[in-house]
Amino acid sequence: MNVIGIIGAMEEEVVRLKEHMTEVKVGTKASMEFNRGRLNGKNVVVVRSGIGKVNAGICTQILADDYNVDAVINTGIAGSLKKEINIGDIVVSTDALQHDMDATNFGYPKGQIPRLAVLSFPADDKLIEAACDACREVNPEISVFKGRVVSGDQFVADKELKERIIHDFDGFCTEMEGAAIAQAAYLNRIPYLVIRAISDKADDSASMDYPTFEREAIEHCVKLVENMVKRL
Ligand code: ADE
Repeated sequence: MNVIGIIGAMEEEVVRLKEHMTEVKVGTKASMEFNRGRLNGKNVVVVRSGIGKVNAGICTQILADDYNVDAVINTGIAGSLKKEINIGDIVVSTDALQHDMDATNFGYPKGQIPRLAVLSFPADDKLIEAACDACREVNPEISVFKGRVVSGDQFVADKELKERIIHDFDGFCTEMEGAAIAQAAYLNRIPYLVIRAISDKADDSASMDYPTFEREAIEHCVKLVENMVKRL
């Protein structure tokens, strides 16, 4: 792969990756800092998108237009939607969709964007494999789950909302950017993958868990992504 785009939603994630990069050149667009350079022998562009789907979509489009990336990897943290997926575990996306997209009034299933051919955006198989292999090598003690990532412009910290999202979409974890990155990658025909470390259970305990586990979760993702890029 010639150039790999790596998007983190938060500065904390991106700072850790930037520390390991060399030959860094910084460009700015749409108030986002694009750090082009080398990571583990690969050309990468590391960028903080900011939080939410609009930021994530804009960021991905700039990676496609201005940096000509061959793949987009999104790292970060997420709330678990499954009993067996615990804080500290990692979810690698098989596909991603937007849980707050609702055009059921026009006959579309919940989550489907009208006039697009797919309900969810499938992640790239090679990227999935590389992420799982990397995780086994650098985080062998951590459980990795492959499954659907559901995104929305909502921090899910309410039991009822969580249950509704689980019922409607059968997701593995929820966060606020992945499916927007997936959509932008799909429209530009660029392979993508979302990798999320679980920071909370997306219920009444979420706000309490989140700051405690955020740092640890970020560390796991950063180690994984660093190892993963050398496999691409
Ligand atoms: N990111 C981390 N935890 C989350 C949650 N519970 N909801 C949405 N985004 C998150």
